[in-house]
Parts: sequence; C-alpha cells; structure tokens
Amino acid sequence: MSERMIRQATPDDRTAILELNTRAFGQPDEANIITKLEKDGDILVELVAHEGDQILGHILFYPIGVFGKLGAIGLGPMCVDPWVQREGIGSSLVTQGLNLVREQGAPLVFVLGHKEYYPRFGFSEEATAEFQTPLKGPHFMAIRFRFGPPMSGRLVFPAAFGIADLA
Ligand SMILES: CC(C)(COP(=O)(O)OP(=O)(O)OC[C@H]1O[C@@H](n2cnc3c(N)ncnc32)[C@H](O)[C@@H]1OP(=O)(O)O)[C@@H](O)C(=O)NCCC(=O)NCCS
Repeated sequence: MSERMIRQATPDDRTAILELNTRAFGQPDEANIITKLEKDGDILVELVAHEGDQILGHILFYPIGVFGKLGAIGLGPMCVDPWVQREGIGSSLVTQGLNLVREQGAPLVFVLGHKEYYPRFGFSEEATAEFQTPLKGPHFMAIRFRFGPPMSGRLVFPAAFGIADLA
C-alpha cells in the first residue's frame, strides 16, 4: 500500500486538481479561479497531497501586490478530498506550504478562510490591521514571518479572484 505524501504539483495533475476542488467545495468557482490563476501566471507555489496516483489534497499560493510597496503572498484555494478530511492532510499541506514560502523569503501570508481553522497555524485577523482590502473581516487573516516591509498598504489581488481594488 502506498504512503500519503506531499509533493509539488505538475501540469499532469491539473485535471485531477480541478475535479478535486469542484468536489470538495461543491461548486466549480474555486476550480475556475485556479484555471485563471494558472493562465495568468499567478501561481507561485502549488502542492498536492497524494497516495500513489491519487490526489487527496491541494494547496496553492499566489502573489499579492501591496500598492507602492514590497508584495506579499496569498494562500488558497486549498481543499482535501471529502472522503479523507479530518485526517491531518489539510494541516500538512498548510504547514509544508507555509514552510516553503517562508524559506523563499515571504514576509507575510494572507488567507481568506474558515476563522476556526487557520488560527491554529498562526494566522490572525489582527495581523491584517494595517492593510486595506474589501475582504477585511474575521475570515481575512494573516501570518507574519518577519518584521519588515510590507507593514501596511492597499492590497492588490490577482485578477482571477475578481476582487475590486480599493482606489
Ligand atoms: C478545510 C479543509 C481543507 C481541512 O482539511 P482537513 O484535511 O480535513 O483538515 P485537518 O484534518 O488537517 O484538520 C481538521 C480540523 O479542521 C477543522 N475543519 C475542517 N473543516 C472546517 C471548517 N469548514 N471550518 C472550521 N474548521 C474546519 C476540523 O474541525 C478539524 O478540527 P479539529 O482538529 O479541532 O478537530 C477541508 O475540510 C476541506 O477541503 N473543506 C472543503 C473546502 C474548504 O472549505 N477549503 C478551505 C477554504 S478556506
């Protein structure tokens, strides 16, 4: 029996990744965002959890512009196959993904997601205090890896998310 592992996603995984996201979210919206992120060259890091040939989970990271300043990173979409949720796969994807972008020098990472899920990895709403975006609220969180730029500013998301830019 093969082991569960995490690896970088490859172009050959694309169909399985889109199908998994559609199933896990129960709608095609996230799969459509992923397709557009890829088309626009806006995927920075993408990992899959797998067991042999079967993709069980997925996470990606994308660039966030901070108007007039050094940029940041965004996490998501991420998902785990409904059949194997609550077995730690999501946590492994988040932890390994954060380690990777941290090693690559990311100062901070934002996420829009479940407010009961991401704080366990160090995300907090407070860490978003000095940043402006229409997404702000309890579901919008950040984790800071190091003190330094960007410390504040207006966030600019990839077009795939269709988020209005605050003028
Ligand atoms: C959220 C998700 C990625 C978690 O993956 P997972 O492999 O089940 O997570 P883990 O096994 O590492 O962790 C399980 C924990 O996550 C919590 N969790 C799962 N879904 C949650 C949700 N919707 N809201 C809050 N917490 C959630 C569980 O309560 C569990 O908490 P516990 O450890 O205190 O019991 C997975 O449930 C999923 O794909 N959901 C559908 C898509 C989705 O919502 N993606 C995230 C968008 S922000």
